[in-house]
Amino acid sequence: MTLGLKIKNVSKIWNPNSDNPVEALKNINLDVELGEFVVLLGPSGCGKSTLLYLIAGLETATDGVAEFDGLKITAPSPERGLIFQEASLYPWLTVKDNITFGLKINGMTVEKREVAAERLLKLVGLKGSGNNKPHQLSGGMRQRAALARALAMEPKVLLMDEPFAALDIQTRARMQTHLLNIWNASGASVLLVTHSIDEALALADRVVVFTSRPGQIKSEIKIDEPRPRDLRSANMIKLAKRCEGLLAEEVEKAFEEQELS
Ligand SMILES: Nc1ncnc2c1ncn2[C@@H]1O[C@H](COP(=O)(O)OP(=O)(O)OP(=O)(O)O)[C@@H](O)[C@H]1O
Ligand SMILES: [Mg+2]
Repeated sequence: MTLGLKIKNVSKIWNPNSDNPVEALKNINLDVELGEFVVLLGPSGCGKSTLLYLIAGLETATDGVAEFDGLKITAPSPERGLIFQEASLYPWLTVKDNITFGLKINGMTVEKREVAAERLLKLVGLKGSGNNKPHQLSGGMRQRAALARALAMEPKVLLMDEPFAALDIQTRARMQTHLLNIWNASGASVLLVTHSIDEALALADRVVVFTSRPGQIKSEIKIDEPRPRDLRSANMIKLAKRCEGLLAEEVEKAFEEQELS
């Protein structure tokens, strides 16, 4: 049995029996090892979110299988935590109750939840905000609360769909550092989608570049540099140029297709 995530020959066609089927993913093969940090880069509409939904168990593949720890993924599970671009907190609950929502569903006592909430709030740097409602937080704080809510379930893999895209550049850099610390401490794998080459290079053990739709894996780039990384070092600039080149070809293709259709 392989531990971690294994995507085997996965294809996804949306609305296959309609007049307008959309081939989102074609023959994806991707393994994410335990504790590995993998970043997906690709042009808009190439199926990155679709792939995360399949792994989260929210959608089913048209072809192929996605497995986690040797078992076929058929439904959502707390061991595969999904974090969206816009934090999806319950607006009527406090930050603390949002974070411990899954623990409550699981039957954890109030006392234990209180302890868990304190630990998680501290971990994501929201110690003083547990009793606030989500609308009282900044965008970066809301994303940290969403991260804490996923971490509460002790996931084995964190699926993150452009989690920092809506944040200003300084907050984004801090969130990346935060995420790396949490990732180190948790031992979980991370599969993160971004449009930012810098973000990919700052975070990833491996960057997976997708083609334009239908998304296929175009290239995989391993990054062995220790973290925190200096993105201005000669090696990182070289890697950034390589990613830019790979991505530019696909973005170009995606635009041409849109103009033709
Ligand atoms: N629920 C759905 N029903 C039908 N088509 C869908 C659905 N979700 C996505 N698609 C289509 O599948 C393709 C891939 O979409 P997806 O959201 O996975 O792309 P993406 O790579 O995440 O793009 P972006 O970078 O813009 O977020 C697109 O053509 C999109 O229109
Ligand atoms: Mg997307």
